[in-house]
Parts: sequence; structure tokens; C-alpha cells
Amino acid sequence: MARLTINGISKSFGATFAVREISLDVEDGELVCLLGPSGSGKSTLLRMIGGFEAPTAGNILIDARDVTSLPPEKRPTGMVFQSHALWTHMDVFNNIAFGLKLRRLPKREIRERVEQALALVGLADYGQRMTSQLSGGQQQRVALARSLVLEPKILLLDEPFASLDQHLRERLREEVRDIQQRLGITTLFVTHGQDEALALADRIVVMRDGGMEQIASPDRIYREPETEFVAGFIGSMNFVRTTIRDGFSQHQAFALPVPVCDGEVVLAVRPEALSLVAAKGTGTGIVHRSIDFGTHKIVDVDLTDGTRVKVMAPSNSGWTKGAAVEPVAAAFRAFRDNRLVYETSAVSATHNDRMFGHA
Ligand SMILES: Nc1ncnc2c1ncn2[C@@H]1O[C@H](COP(=O)(O)OP(=O)(O)OP(=O)(O)O)[C@@H](O)[C@H]1O
Ligand SMILES: [Mg+2]
Repeated sequence: MARLTINGISKSFGATFAVREISLDVEDGELVCLLGPSGSGKSTLLRMIGGFEAPTAGNILIDARDVTSLPPEKRPTGMVFQSHALWTHMDVFNNIAFGLKLRRLPKREIRERVEQALALVGLADYGQRMTSQLSGGQQQRVALARSLVLEPKILLLDEPFASLDQHLRERLREEVRDIQQRLGITTLFVTHGQDEALALADRIVVMRDGGMEQIASPDRIYREPETEFVAGFIGSMNFVRTTIRDGFSQHQAFALPVPVCDGEVVLAVRPEALSLVAAKGTGTGIVHRSIDFGTHKIVDVDLTDGTRVKVMAPSNSGWTKGAAVEPVAAAFRAFRDNRLVYETSAVSATHNDRMFGHA
């Protein structure tokens, strides 16, 4: 258990800024997911916390102790790398025991701790196997056990399950969550997958170009994105470009009050915040198709300006291709130059709770 404090950390490689002035507090036992597109600095940030990369500026504290200049083995951190490298010339037992041997622990204690770690990741009988005789998922578990056996106060996981199929990934991430909670290890977990972040995280950090775009609970990241980038990064989102004049959107289908200065904005509306009514005349949209997901339908609607929006409709609704419709927005946010300039009050909680995670 430990508290991690990151103070204004930056890292540049020559002229490229991989990480820009990130400050972040991770509480004891908390699991924080770093989410962002490829090249946004997630691995670099994690490697700096683990001591594998030296920051250009800023410092890192673990339980109020400055560890910025300590090498990896002197830090109370354990890291599972993006491309996990197990030693192929050693069996599973020795892969996991390696770090303990470096610490010169007595043989009996090493055996006990390795066996515990193997049991923890569900590989109790696999100690004697060579790592080449393991499936991808089993290798990932060995990599995890190898970190856990050193009893790190802070666990750093860099897309540990990226190479696995969806099913196995879901199972392993649930196991990681269980282990993490049982041991109360403060954890940073890098992922590309928004589903993974929503399922695992106490809080999510959305990264972009080395900077932190937003940090908040999964729920808030989903419902209250502070930038257009975050709004589009998690879950399904409709974006509609429009011009504001005298406090009103000039868009034909979204002629809504938006009390901001005149000029361009982007309206962001979740599919579950949109509904359809049949048009009296030609309508502002035409149904392109409707897909039945069992619990609900997703109706694609083409607006007259060429924008296509997705509408979440009840499963018993019967919108057919070619129908003339009017989309109605119950809630939306307006962004200008990526920044939030206006938000309506949130969609009713019950509606959102039902839909949360299914977008
Ligand atoms: N050793 C290095 N030398 C030069 N540039 C680097 C180095 N390591 C990373 N970078 C650059 O820093 C930026 C951030 O890289 P990083 O690996 O942290 O991204 P990431 O978010 O982990 O991406 P991915 O999702 O693809 O793993 C990239 O532009 C990358 O090219
Ligand atoms: Mg990476």
C-alpha cells in the first residue's frame, strides 16, 4: 500500500515531448487507468514511475519520499512491460524466483513466495514448465506473478493483456482487479481499450500528446467530458457542427438554445440522449438503417447537412429505412476549440444508469 505523487513530470526525447508537465496523485490502493491513443506518452510516464526512464523535469514521490533519482530495483514498484519478456531458458519457477534471488533471500522463503505467487495467478502446478510451453495468457500471468512476488507497493501494468483475445483479456483483467483489491496494491494500468478502463478503473487519466486531457472517475469521464477530445474518445458520441447566432444554434435539425458568443461550436450528444419523432413534412433527417441489439436499437439517421447521427431507440421501436424523422436532443454539451463552453443539465440518472457502459 502506498501513495504516489507525481509533480510536474516532463520527458523529452530531443525535440519530441513524450510527456508534458503531468501532475497526479494516486491514493493508497487505488487503480488508475492511463488511456490514450498510440504515442500519447502512456508508456513513457509509466517507465518514469518505475525508474526505467529519467524525467527531464519534475519529481516522483512514493509515500512522500522522493524516488526520482533511484534506480528501478531501489523503488517499491513492480512493472509488467508492454511486451512482456520472460526468460525462455528458465522454467516458470525460476522466472518468478529471479528477483528474489537477486535480493539474496533464503531458499525456503523463495520457494514459499514463488508458490504463493503462482497460486495467486492460478498457475499452482506450472512451476516446472518451460515458458515456451505456455499459452499466451499463461505467459502473461507468469509476468504478473514475477512482479507480484516482489510485493511491490505500486504495480505498474503496461497493456499487459494487449496481445490476448477479447475473452481471455476480460477474464484476466477481472483477475487482476480481484488480486489488486485483495492485496490493496496501488496500481497504474495502461490501456488502449476504453472498455477495459471503464471496467477496471477507480479513476481514468485520458492522455493526449503527452499531456493530461482529463482525470476523473469512469462515470464522470463518460457523462461530463471536459474536452471534445475526451467526449469522442470514450463511448459512442455524435458530433454536430453548427453556428451560434444570438444564443441559438442555426443547425436545421438542432435549432437549440446555446447561450454562448456567436461563432462555430461542436455539439456533442450521446445516442442515448437522442430520440426520434416522425416528421410531419420532409423532416430534418432520414433513417439510414436500424440495428437491433436485443436490449435496444441503434438507428443511423442522415441529416440534411450530411452528418450521420446514431440514436438509441427502444427495442420495440420500428424505424424503417427512408423514414423522415426529427431528432430530439434531451442533453448535450457544446465545445469550441476543444474546450467546453456550454452544457445542459445531465440526462436523468435512471436513463443514464441503464445505458452506462452499453454505448
Ligand atoms: N526512447 C525514445 N526515443 C525517442 N522517442 C521516444 C522514445 N520513447 C518514446 N518516444 C516517443 O515518445 C512519444 C510517446 O511514446 P510512448 O511509448 O510513451 O507512447 P504510448 O502512449 O505508450 O503509445 P502506445 O499506445 O503506442 O504504446 C512517442 O511519440 C514516441 O515516439
Ligand atoms: Mg505504450
